[in-house]
Amino acid sequence: MSPKEKQPLLYLNGVSVSFDGFKAINNLSLVVERGEMRAIIGPNGAGKTTMMDIITGKTRPDEGEVFFEGDTDLTKYDEADIACLGIGRKFQKPTVFENHSVYDNLALAFDEDRGILANLFHNETRSRRGRINEILDTVRLSHRKDFLASELSHGQKQWLEIGMLLAQDPKLLLVDEPVAGMTDAETVETANLLREISKNHSVIVVEHDMGFIRDLDVKVTCLAEGSVLSEGSLDHVASDEKVIESYLGR
Ligand SMILES: Nc1ncnc2c1ncn2[C@@H]1O[C@H](COP(=O)(O)OP(=O)(O)O)[C@@H](O)[C@H]1O
Ligand SMILES: [Mg+2]
Repeated sequence: MSPKEKQPLLYLNGVSVSFDGFKAINNLSLVVERGEMRAIIGPNGAGKTTMMDIITGKTRPDEGEVFFEGDTDLTKYDEADIACLGIGRKFQKPTVFENHSVYDNLALAFDEDRGILANLFHNETRSRRGRINEILDTVRLSHRKDFLASELSHGQKQWLEIGMLLAQDPKLLLVDEPVAGMTDAETVETANLLREISKNHSVIVVEHDMGFIRDLDVKVTCLAEGSVLSEGSLDHVASDEKVIESYLGR
């Protein structure tokens, strides 16, 4: 094993950022291992989205480092570079192409990554089709592949967007509040599909829905006031006095 592979996938070291004198992220340190799916919980304003903004280069921290795969300090790169390094982000609101079919949305996401030249080769096209069909299966949309994206339910649009990220085969997937606005059945299915995705990708998922977090069955980090308040199994975190006081008990 090369030293690079022994390093954690992501290591935030003493990260802080202030907005108009308010510390949104306060000396935050966090390690996510390769192949791990991590759930992030915490009250509104805890800094969860800002943490994702920092990882993806949207916000530059005032202090601290964000190491990806060992020695790449993401705070030195911009958003486009960080996407190329293999970090994909799903925002809260789905941004699919409404007037294209589900299949074509995935095809477009695929081509964006590989360039048009690849499509001139027949084999590439065939393997692309196979890969798109796999992703359709993963995101539960095979039976909807010829529908326009505009015809999908809110939950299905969220899944399509997760599929569009998978088309780029990121090493790390960041997902912010995926089940907000979903039906109970869609929420359960989203936990299942993220568990499937996490077999081949590292994932960080921010959510408030505790039933959903329980279904994910992964290590949980609770943020509050821009720092880690508690970390461990959901049972450990949920019974932590600090967490009950600042978040769950309210
Ligand atoms: N670009 C920004 N400018 C000013 N304040 C911001 C900005 N982004 C976030 N904040 C503030 O930082 C705090 C953390 O916000 P956020 O990361 O969105 O929390 P969470 O996602 O945990 O609810 C909030 O008080 C928010 O108002
Ligand atoms: Mg948020």
